[in-house]
Amino acid sequence: MKLVLEPHTCLAPLPAVIVTCGDEKENNAITLAWVGTVNSAPPILSIAVRYSRHSLGLIARTKEFTVNLIDRSLLHAMDVCGVTSGRDVDKFAAAGITRAKGERVGCPYVAESPVAIECKVVERVDFPTHAVFFGEIVGVVADAEYTHGGKVVLPDGFLVTYANGKYLATGDTIGTYGYTAKEGK
Ligand SMILES: Cc1cc2nc3c(=O)[nH]c(=O)nc-3n(C[C@H](O)[C@H](O)[C@H](O)COP(=O)(O)O)c2cc1C
Repeated sequence: MKLVLEPHTCLAPLPAVIVTCGDEKENNAITLAWVGTVNSAPPILSIAVRYSRHSLGLIARTKEFTVNLIDRSLLHAMDVCGVTSGRDVDKFAAAGITRAKGERVGCPYVAESPVAIECKVVERVDFPTHAVFFGEIVGVVADAEYTHGGKVVLPDGFLVTYANGKYLATGDTIGTYGYTAKEGK
């Protein structure tokens, strides 16, 4: 039996990331799951930030942000950054993460993050509850062990995702891109 439900946000799982923003003087770290890839050349991603977030003003002012990918070792920090506000606490201290000077943007990235994706805002769209910032990726700072041929390559089960209030580990490889097209050849 199928039920037709009232519209609600239910796309899951989504990547759970820590977005860093601000400048050298004033900066912050916010956990986001409403994050997506929207263009390949130039590479552009999107983040959706609720108007009440302290981070929103920082991103709007500097027009820069960095998406820090999260592995299991950063799970605790990611949750801390998602339930405390930079209005009240220094989240880097509260979450036990270290500011590293941005390479191609003015905001810091999380030194412990395996991959930090540095972005400059190219467009902002204001929806009723969230502002969506489209950020062109201007640099990627990655631990060498997670790169291959100049690209990010992460081990299976490495990243943490978010679905229905739970943090989920990603799993094993169960297929490869376009494998059905190769079948029978
Ligand atoms: C797993 C998780 C995912 C979240 N995703 C988003 C999101 O996509 N957009 C958003 O505005 N807030 C999201 N939040 C909530 C913010 O991280 C939270 O309100 C935070 O305290 C805001 O920090 P700030 O006021 O310092 O900016 C999420 C929180 C968690 C724990």
